[in-house]
Amino acid sequence: MSEPLHEREPARVLLANQPTRGHWLRYGAQVGTRIWIKRDDQTGSELMGNKVRKLEYLMAEALAQQATHVITCGGEQSNHARATAFAAAQLGMKSVLILRTDDPARPPAPTGNILLDRLVGAELHWISRSAWRDRTRLLAEQAERLRATGARPYIVPEGGSNALGSWGYIRAMRELTEDLATIASPEHPVTIVYACGSGGTGAGLVLAAKLWKLHERGIRVCGVNVCDDRAYFVDAIGKICAEAEERWQLGANVTAEDIDLADGHVGLGYAKSRPEELATIRDLARADGLVLDPVYTGKAFHGMLAELHKDPHRFGSAVAFLHTGGLFGLFANPETIAQVL
Ligand SMILES: Cc1ncc(COP(=O)(O)O)c(C=O)c1O
Repeated sequence: MSEPLHEREPARVLLANQPTRGHWLRYGAQVGTRIWIKRDDQTGSELMGNKVRKLEYLMAEALAQQATHVITCGGEQSNHARATAFAAAQLGMKSVLILRTDDPARPPAPTGNILLDRLVGAELHWISRSAWRDRTRLLAEQAERLRATGARPYIVPEGGSNALGSWGYIRAMRELTEDLATIASPEHPVTIVYACGSGGTGAGLVLAAKLWKLHERGIRVCGVNVCDDRAYFVDAIGKICAEAEERWQLGANVTAEDIDLADGHVGLGYAKSRPEELATIRDLARADGLVLDPVYTGKAFHGMLAELHKDPHRFGSAVAFLHTGGLFGLFANPETIAQVL
């Protein structure tokens, strides 16, 4: 996995434990579907999940610019913000996190990711939901403030989801292509199903699938959006792919038809769980001894099962579920999951 991925692959810094392993789920037999799972929840511990793969490229750019500080933003329990803060500390930089919460005057308790953000010494700025609309300007303001003190800030966008970050999942797709070589074929297609939250993971997977014509090998890609809707993510993923095309002329030429999303599974809203979603997390833990998170992977996995219930052939002959991490989110509000125990 050390050889260059592509002649235009940008520089990266090694942060993730990869390749990650994959295995079949016993739970699949319970629900009558073949489900294989790719353990990107095991890319690290402090740095677990999908964000680390994107950060390998983003932090390489920050290092090349000799950044002293990394600034990013997210929801109050953002996995991305936590991963960025730890990646910064591992590389000798400081971190500034702009986090969205209901009442910035009364910041949330230090649970889950927030506990880790504080432990690693990230500078936290709490903002309201209405101020969140202005996050691009707020990130720039923090950068300006740091520059005025002689520091060199580097801004990582929400979710690490831009063209540079998407290389993390172009690279992951090479692993997946090897993983699925004996599982997928044109006669027995397999769909990689992933949780879509800001579009960067999806953009990398879709770009790679198109670039390497993976449909010819029976490999397809489908996101389950955990917020917003299909139209929002076709646009968001399309824009990241277009940015990548402009920057590196990959020749993938992703169009809206290449972006498959299973919409309709947001449920009560972003980071809000229905009992049946929590029950799925519980059942999978008991069947296979692994943990999904309530905000992303649990919701996406539950959505995938709902799609299969409607149409058992929706994903071909097997699903390759991408476990993108998020474990610490489970410890944000333990009483939520405790409802189904
Ligand atoms: C655990 C987890 N899974 C999936 C996602 C979604 O990935 P993306 O933001 O690249 O769409 C995120 C972050 O948003 C996440 O933290």
